[in-house]
Amino acid sequence: MSAEEYFNLYKKCVDIESIQFSLEDFKRFQKSRNIKIEKEKNCIAILSLTDREVEIYFIGVAESLRGKGLGKKFLKNIINFSKYYGADFITLEVGINNIPAKNMYSSLNFIECGIRKNYYRNSSGSREDAIIMKLNLN
Ligand SMILES: CC(C)(COP(=O)(O)OP(=O)(O)OC[C@H]1O[C@@H](n2cnc3c(N)ncnc32)[C@H](O)[C@@H]1OP(=O)(O)O)[C@@H](O)C(=O)NCCC(=O)NCCS
Repeated sequence: MSAEEYFNLYKKCVDIESIQFSLEDFKRFQKSRNIKIEKEKNCIAILSLTDREVEIYFIGVAESLRGKGLGKKFLKNIINFSKYYGADFITLEVGINNIPAKNMYSSLNFIECGIRKNYYRNSSGSREDAIIMKLNLN
């Protein structure tokens, strides 16, 4: 799949006010050995793979298909991939007000382990704290 196609799927799956990545980023991701873009029909995730850790930079489901279990199923597949990859844990940051995402992570046993103040800046310029969440795989 081309960077343009990944970027178009990302735009379907991200809330417009919280777009973080550009087409240039997707071109860079495709060249990087440490970044893996996972996709399923109507879902996309961007993963950073380091020694013993998988970090989820983004996971999203197309807006019209949310709330039907797709995100949780996709996240379970990412957890299985991370175990296969040999990671000890998965980490991520999520906006403190992003209740659907926080619920999805909690429902698969991710725990809150820190906070980054004013981490996100949305398109209107306002700031939002991020919660750091972690899932131990061992
Ligand atoms: C977060 C996101 C991926 C969830 O995907 P989804 O397909 O809608 O989620 P699911 O239907 O699989 O639900 C997963 C869990 O989240 C909870 N959840 C989903 N939507 C919710 C909502 N609107 N309010 C509260 N909880 C919600 C469900 O209760 C479910 O938990 P359960 O299994 O205990 O019932 C989706 O909302 C999304 O793409 N959001 C925009 C992108 C984003 O914010 N990504 C996270 C960035 S780190």
